[in-house]
Amino acid sequence: MRGRLLRGGSCKAKTVLLGGLKDHLKTIRQSRRIVFIGCGTSYNAALAARPILEELSGIPVTMEIASDLLDRQGPIYREDTAVFVSQSGETADTLSALEYALENGALCVGITNTVDSAIARNTHCGVHLNAGAEIGVASTKAYTSQIVVMAMLALAIGGDTISNQARREAIIDGVFELPNKVREVLKLDEMMKDLAQELIAHQSLLVFGRGYNYATSLEGALKVKEVALMHSEGILAGEMKHGPLALVDETLPTFVIATRDACFSKQQSVIQQLRARKGRLIVMCSKGDAASVCPGGSCRVIEVPQLEDCLQPVVNIIPLQLLAYHLTVLRGFNVDQPRNLAKSVTTQ
Ligand code: UD1
Ligand code: F6R
Repeated sequence: MRGRLLRGGSCKAKTVLLGGLKDHLKTIRQSRRIVFIGCGTSYNAALAARPILEELSGIPVTMEIASDLLDRQGPIYREDTAVFVSQSGETADTLSALEYALENGALCVGITNTVDSAIARNTHCGVHLNAGAEIGVASTKAYTSQIVVMAMLALAIGGDTISNQARREAIIDGVFELPNKVREVLKLDEMMKDLAQELIAHQSLLVFGRGYNYATSLEGALKVKEVALMHSEGILAGEMKHGPLALVDETLPTFVIATRDACFSKQQSVIQQLRARKGRLIVMCSKGDAASVCPGGSCRVIEVPQLEDCLQPVVNIIPLQLLAYHLTVLRGFNVDQPRNLAKSVTTQ
């Protein structure tokens, strides 16, 4: 991944260079707000990147699902930077939202995987993912590449101050560690196949996440839903007591993402509360944390390698992608071409 992804942009000598943005960084830094706009998996990737962009840039970052922005005719201002995230660069809603943002005078930035796509052509500037063509309908490598590119975007916009130097260097080191961590997490394939076998006959799956991994819960659930055709819901763990807890019982498979980051202790408490309701838990945690997240082996545990928090979603989504893949194959569906879906949604 590193070779392709960093072909254009690069993280050499602990600095980030995104060739397509370098002439626009000053304007972006002066914007009043950054608005991420996308659909489906691309929206989820932007959600994963939002916290690091807020932290490093200090600029408010808001999120828009393209169709919803258009339905509401939501406010977009000249002082905004609107970032359009799209693998194909051709999604009709995202493209219409781009036209709308251009009319409203915002600086429009594209993050696309397709050179010469409509979004790449019509944005003022942007970044190509260089992840290679994505053929399967379900977006997978584009998702992980989008997160890495948006972390690089956060580093580029954030600027190099003494106060954030250690954090910046840790993220850049993390980018270089990613290929090994991804190789390591792919070794969970057999374990996810066994889990898929266990879950094959279930009707539904919940995925609880928060912070950097709220996006992982939405994206994991989306993958299970769209390819394995199993109802699945990604839930912000902070919302658990505001409704979803009513669903939890000893039969419904309930995934909790509890890798190490600033939200870890809150997720430990979520696990305790779910265990108190006899939830059928599958917990994803950092290597070495199995005993502390699940004392007494009371739930199934998936241990993943740890990484800088903002890059952790790249690793954490992989077991869920593998689970979706195996569920699909075991249920006899087509993993490359899910029912009723098209790779590029070019109509509204
Ligand atoms: C460019 C080359 C890359 C080469 C590198 C060498 C292309 C497409 N890219 O990459 O092959 O290795 O120089 O330095 O020839 N853009 C948008 N909207 C988007 C995406 C991109 O406007 O959604 C614009 C960028 O602002 C830029 C151009 O397209 O002007 C190319 O973008 P990108 O490939 O990311 O730029 P470089 O990294 O400079
Ligand atoms: C899900 C999936 C879709 C796309 C969405 C946006 O796996 O692929 O949710 O992410 O249709 O597509 P792009 O990124 O091409 O704008």
